[in-house]
Parts: sequence; C-alpha cells; structure tokens
Amino acid sequence: MTIAETYVRFGAREARGVSPAYERLSLAVSRDDGLLALAETLPPAKRQPNLLFGVVRLLGGPVHDPAAFHDFTLANWPAIEAELRSRAVQTNEPGRCAVLLPVLAALPQPLALIEVGASAGLCLYPDRYAYRYGDRLLGRGGPVLDCALTGSAPPERRPEVVWRAGLDLNPLDVTDPADVAWLDALIWPEHEHRRDRLRAAAAVAAADPPLLVRGDLVDDLPALAARAPAGATLVVFHTSVLYQVPAPRRAAFAEAVRALPGHWIANEAPDVLPYDALPEPPGDAHHNVLALDGTPLAWTRGHGQAMTWFG
Ligand SMILES: C[S@@+](CC[C@H](N)C(=O)[O-])C[C@H]1O[C@@H](n2cnc3c(N)ncnc32)[C@H](O)[C@@H]1O
Repeated sequence: MTIAETYVRFGAREARGVSPAYERLSLAVSRDDGLLALAETLPPAKRQPNLLFGVVRLLGGPVHDPAAFHDFTLANWPAIEAELRSRAVQTNEPGRCAVLLPVLAALPQPLALIEVGASAGLCLYPDRYAYRYGDRLLGRGGPVLDCALTGSAPPERRPEVVWRAGLDLNPLDVTDPADVAWLDALIWPEHEHRRDRLRAAAAVAAADPPLLVRGDLVDDLPALAARAPAGATLVVFHTSVLYQVPAPRRAAFAEAVRALPGHWIANEAPDVLPYDALPEPPGDAHHNVLALDGTPLAWTRGHGQAMTWFG
C-alpha cells in the first residue's frame, strides 16, 4: 500500500463516522504531494496517519483545517520529525474493557491478568470501572464505559482481579504529565468523552499503579507469566496491539501464549490472526475480532463502544 493509500484507507475505514476532522484531514494528506514527500523520508512504521496527527496535536498544531495543517507541518517539520521518530502510537483506551468484560466475567474467578502491549496499563482495571450496556449499569464510580451490546445479555458481574501486570516495549506512566500529554494528543479531536475517560481511568490507575514491565510480547511473556500467583486463573490479553507486530512474530506470540496455562483473549483487527471463517462484520466501519483461546466470538468497535456477538 502506498502512503497515500494508507491515508485514504484510514479516512474511509477508521475515521469516517468517528472523527470528521481526521476523515477530512487524512483525505487531504492523501492528495498533498508535499506532505507525502516528507512522510516518504520516514521509516514505514513512522508513517501512520494517527502518529502524524497526534504529534501535530502534541505540538499545538491545527488538525481541523487541512490547509493550516499543511502550513504548520511544513514550517515545523524538524520538530515534528524528531517526535515522530521517538514516539509510537500507544493510544490507551480503557473503553476497550467494556468488550473484554463479558469474557473476563465468564471465566473461573479470581483472575490474574497480563496485558501484552499495555501502553500505560489502563485496560488492566476491568474490575474497577463502571459499565453501561444499554440501560444496564454495572459497577459504580468512574469512568462509566458505554457499550452497545448485540446478541447476548450484559454480564451480571465484574471480574475479581487479584493480580495485574502489563508488558510493553515502552510502558507509559500515568503519573508522568508528559506521558499523559502524549496519551491525550493521541485521542481524536472531537472525542472529549474519551479525554474525560482517560483522566478518570488514569486516576484509578494512579491510585494503585500496575506492574508494568518493559519487554517484548514474545520474548518476555513466559517470565512475566511465571510471576503470576497460583490459585488464580491466568488470563493473557491484548487489544489493538498485533497490527504493530510483524506476521512471523505474531505467530511466535500465538505459540508462546498457547504454551501457558490459563486463557488467552485477543481483541484485534480481523487480518492479524488466522481465523478459519468469520461472519460478515455489521457494517463498513473498522471492527476488531474478540476471541477466546483462538476461537472468534464477536465483532467489536475500535474504542469499545459496541460489540456484536456472532450468531
Ligand atoms: C495501540 S497501543 C494499545 C494499548 C492498549 N492495549 C489499549 O488497547 O489501550 C499498542 C501498544 O502495543 C505496544 N507494542 C507493540 N509491539 C509490541 C511488542 N512487540 N511487545 C510489547 N508491546 C508492544 C506498543 O508499545 C503500544 O503501547
């Protein structure tokens, strides 16, 4: 895929109906030879629309007006390039706990959780957040995670978590204002509710910080799993991570996680793990596949806002 096609695809599949500003901007960048030429000078992993848009927002640049974005990016390219080269897309979306919850709640309790690709670890607190599935409210306090659920009843309870740990190539720290500023910049412009959610979830995590280990999800998973307490169901999970991992490493990860005791929950784009057959997704928008121990169960929206169980 060319860089221009990457931007067209991002606008049409991910931003459409979710962020009008990013849909408009990504289509404009896809036709902007000056910006495409700058993107061409970067390594492939640094050309993601989300990364460029997040860095421009971090530096105070405009993302609502494509012409102003073009001017700002050209005028500030050295600073933008330095940030692009040192940063990665590490969006940490606690809303994804709402699509993990039905599976977590159905496993034998209590749970010992390991999240690979945890970013700042905000998805490690599914037992502490509140949830609203339609008119069913589960739990108290904040943040309240809204999820439109189709094809099954909402979970009756939150899981009991006795141990939680995250693994990431570059763990972020919710108590560090610079890391929180980057997490905030990664949230799409119109999504004030997600900014509120980030702050509320960061407060939950900061009150009882998770064990976050710097490492690779293949090489370092067995050692972290060995630290999980006995007497709890080990659950290794990941959401929106494997698209950042090369295919042979994804296969090695699947092998490593299957070799562990306990369960494996994946919430990933449909093309990153091999599933025999998937039903048609419920619409054109981007959906992830929720799977337990390699069996696909449901389509989920990217920020946890909806899930549709397979029939
Ligand atoms: C898009 S973020 C998702 C964070 C979190 N799972 C969520 O859903 O909110 C992907 C995370 O995966 C991490 N990551 C990518 N490749 C990895 C690897 N090989 N080993 C460990 N972490 C990795 C990145 O550093 C980043 O923090």
